[in-house]
Amino acid sequence: MTTPYSRITGTGSYLPPRRVTNDDLAKELATRGIETSDQWIVERTGIHARHFAAPEVTSSDLGYEAARHALESAGRKASDVDLIIVATSTPDMVFPSSAAILQHKLGIAGCPAFDVQAVCSGFVYALTVADAMIRTGSARCALVVGAEVFSRILDFNDRTTCVLFGDGAGAVVLEASQEPGILASDLHADGKHVGILCVPGHVSGGNVLGTPLLHMDGQAVFKLAVRVLEEAARATLAKAGKTEADIDWLIPHQANIRIMEGTAKKLKLPREKLIVTVNEHGNTSAASIPLALDEAVRSGKVKKGETLMLEGVGGGFTWGAVLLNL
Ligand code: UT7
Repeated sequence: MTTPYSRITGTGSYLPPRRVTNDDLAKELATRGIETSDQWIVERTGIHARHFAAPEVTSSDLGYEAARHALESAGRKASDVDLIIVATSTPDMVFPSSAAILQHKLGIAGCPAFDVQAVCSGFVYALTVADAMIRTGSARCALVVGAEVFSRILDFNDRTTCVLFGDGAGAVVLEASQEPGILASDLHADGKHVGILCVPGHVSGGNVLGTPLLHMDGQAVFKLAVRVLEEAARATLAKAGKTEADIDWLIPHQANIRIMEGTAKKLKLPREKLIVTVNEHGNTSAASIPLALDEAVRSGKVKKGETLMLEGVGGGFTWGAVLLNL
């Protein structure tokens, strides 16, 4: 049976306990002869701290905790879930998917489970896929998770990138609904920009070839991000027949406060409508949007019935937006 809509019925998130401040990181980098400071990081990015997972903790471990909280807030049991999608660029293994591993950790079996790889746009990609599967009747109760251990792929000899990222997970339960939840989405990719944000290593013959650490041309990413985030938001609003004035909250990918404020400004949204967690989480890639969403819901800021614009942008280059009624 098909239903006209899908709707978020629960949110959850999880941060590993180890909180690393800019000063902590600056001290650690100083031991390598690399200079950075709390002042530089705060001024250029808005980041004050991030969380790093313990070495044995995987994306599916973080995703499991976020999923448990999301199921609890939706009033659902794991056995109600009939689709699992995990957005991650730091999967537990080359294969199988972190989604399959998460499924087993949740104590369920049988439903489809797969990963989506769209880097920092992963969550809006995954949410769009889950929405389509629900609306065509392939699923009724989906768990959509963004989970990352980006600390594993950071080059701690590169101060231009290692101060930006953190670990964490966020999740939503998305269910078939007669009431409108997801109103419209707009996804894009342009592979010609592959080199400006990538982890260029791969596994071959039992060895890692190339560099298995994050490389980014920050300024190129910055310029592209501000442009495409505005375009994706406008395209999504147009598809839904809405305008900027209909947006109660903008929840963009939490990469850099300057990109986020720039996007809000272009959309003529007051700063108060922008949900910000980058200050405490850093950039958690595919986890950043559901983490920010869950924090905003749990703090009572974002309420049921409000209209949210979620926006992702990242490696690929990928970008996209989802407009929804909570
Ligand atoms: O999740 C995917 C999306 N990713 C993003 O959205 C990231 C987008 N890019 C950015 O957020 C920014 O470009 C950065 C935060 C990465 C860099 O900010 P910026 O204002 O573009 O700085 P910059 O690269 O122009 O560097 C300015 C200066 C340079 O020194 P010189 O050449 O002016 O002497 C850098 O070497 O800051 C220096 N610098 C640092 N100094 C202290 C770069 N990193 C650091 C650091 N600490 N950690």
